[in-house]
Amino acid sequence: MCKKPYYITTPIYYPSTKLHIGNTYTTVAADAISRFKRLTGYDVMFLTGTDEHGQKIQTIAEEKGITPKEHVDEIVAGIKSLWDMMDISYDKFIRTTDDYHVKAVQKIFKKLYDQGDIYKSSYEGSYCTPCESFWTETQLVNGNCPDCGRPVHEAKEEAYFFKMSKYADRLIKYIEDHPDFIQPESRKNEMLNNFLRPGLQDLCVSRTSFNWGVPVTFDTDHVVYVWIDALSNYITALGYGSDNDELYKKFWPANVHLIGKDILRFHTIYWPIMLMALDLPLPKQVFGHGWLLVDGGKMSKSKGNVVDPVALVEGFGVDAVRYYLLKEIPFGSDGLFNNEIFIKKINSDLCNDLGNLLSRTVAMVEKYFDGVLPAPLGKEEVDDELINLALETPKIVENAIEDLKIPDALEAIFTLIRRANKYIDETTPWILAKDETKKDRLGTVLYNLAEALRFSSVLLSAFLPRTSEKINEQLAVTAKDWASLEGFDGTAPGTTVKKGEALFPRIDVDKKLEELEALRLAQLEEVKKKEAAEAKVEMEPIKEEITIEDFEKIDLRVVKVVECEPIKKAKKLLKLKVDLGGEIRQVVSGIAMHYKPEDLVGKYVVLVANLKPVKLRGELSQGMIIAASDSNDTILNLVNPGKLPTGSIVR
Ligand code: MSP
Repeated sequence: MCKKPYYITTPIYYPSTKLHIGNTYTTVAADAISRFKRLTGYDVMFLTGTDEHGQKIQTIAEEKGITPKEHVDEIVAGIKSLWDMMDISYDKFIRTTDDYHVKAVQKIFKKLYDQGDIYKSSYEGSYCTPCESFWTETQLVNGNCPDCGRPVHEAKEEAYFFKMSKYADRLIKYIEDHPDFIQPESRKNEMLNNFLRPGLQDLCVSRTSFNWGVPVTFDTDHVVYVWIDALSNYITALGYGSDNDELYKKFWPANVHLIGKDILRFHTIYWPIMLMALDLPLPKQVFGHGWLLVDGGKMSKSKGNVVDPVALVEGFGVDAVRYYLLKEIPFGSDGLFNNEIFIKKINSDLCNDLGNLLSRTVAMVEKYFDGVLPAPLGKEEVDDELINLALETPKIVENAIEDLKIPDALEAIFTLIRRANKYIDETTPWILAKDETKKDRLGTVLYNLAEALRFSSVLLSAFLPRTSEKINEQLAVTAKDWASLEGFDGTAPGTTVKKGEALFPRIDVDKKLEELEALRLAQLEEVKKKEAAEAKVEMEPIKEEITIEDFEKIDLRVVKVVECEPIKKAKKLLKLKVDLGGEIRQVVSGIAMHYKPEDLVGKYVVLVANLKPVKLRGELSQGMIIAASDSNDTILNLVNPGKLPTGSIVR
């Protein structure tokens, strides 16, 4: 029989920094879904990859003195080995630097240009270099980039634009008519109400300020800006735009794009509009999952709270990490990573519930039946409860995965595991063993336990593949497919079980927590050292030595800002009135990119009070306000003397 195709994708990852445990979530989740779909008989295409172009990569490579390709090659190798380590069963790994992708993106761009959906114009606005994004005044938050919170600077660039607005109404209708297209529901409303209904701006889709990107074939000063390049991967990976588009015909439209909530806008607005313009079907679903947070906040290097997936896998084993990730991020909302909860969950769910069930079962078969599993003979009510639950569980898991509710799927499997443990307490095999006339009953109980474990193992194979293999090995399971879960008789009586290592050895919580804390502190220390080293490199040379008399010539005073306003046609300047101990002075200061007038009124600052007055843009400036800034003025902070009587001397 021809298997039904199932196409699932993760985002393609930026190879700019080392991935943290939060980043790995999308891929681990997509892997579990893919494995489950394969188990239930689908022909799965699971795509992941890397998003390798952009200014950031170019800059880092330049700093390292290597080519961008050399730089990304190194990082991509690391990402691939992380996925191997985490048992990610992707079917294809796409790199946006792959030749076939570059060519297909060029074709897509040209087609959109030829049909008039892309046009040339210029972009003027506030630009955030780290995010490679232009922002409008209204999008800025406190004058800073709304995505990363860092300062922006004014920039103008010739660019190509995509006519987003042309397709907006069609997309709104599509989303309304296809309630499953954006999931979870709450995110759908956010997209409609916050972005689509208020009206879409045309999207800037090319850049001239850097060249590490897909060149625009008909205008080689331009490279295709990241989102058209990146989003196209979902179809170019299948051969769209190449000589062989068999996979495209088989797998497109995707069943689901699994992504983090931060990139939902790109996937539910820009991507569908691109597809509409190309006259291609839209993916069936875009699912924006929540984030894994640490102590309620995002992971960040400077906070020293970045959790390294490699260290976790090395310390606790891959399935412990997979289990925590898959169980901890509930459908549609954020999850929390916490060392203590992580370790306690391993001990309770994996070591106590699952590990003990297996070791007790195998030990009893060895002890009472020389390791040879007996046949079940007869049935009691308590057996029915266990058997019925086992037979119901596959459907519950299947439905949960259909809805992408991975924690619910795992919960159903662990409900069966806990039920089997309870069954041991109810049937008390060690008491049955004392009575020779109960030998058949004892055999039945042990058979049922082995079979319940087989059910658990087959179901767990999608989520904890290595653990499932270990269970299969100890119980010599041969019936591992989905169809074998239709009857509670997949284990052949007479099978010889073999005791193996504990699935999840019990962890000494306090000892491990201490170790992890030491690791965290060492990481933080590393980050600080690196930051200090980088800061040193950028430091400007110290100026020529002066005497104390030279310094005393400068009269620094505490002043209070009493009025402040912008200066017309001078974006960087503000005009301030400051109180210098009763005397009011006017000062022009180049701080408009960092402070808003209303934020300054009432502030105490330091003034060079004996600087010769000058006129700036026609305005008299009687002194200069002191600020600290980095070498290119991207960060600037006014020096704060605290509340002192105005006119106080700063020495
Ligand atoms: N390159 C883009 C995607 C382009 S897709 C056409 C990108 N890459 S990323 O490397 O920054 O992110 C990869 C995935 O990690 C995204 O799904 C993102 O949402 C996810 N996560 C990043 N931090 C996360 C957590 N703390 N928790 C869960 N997922 C998070 O975005």
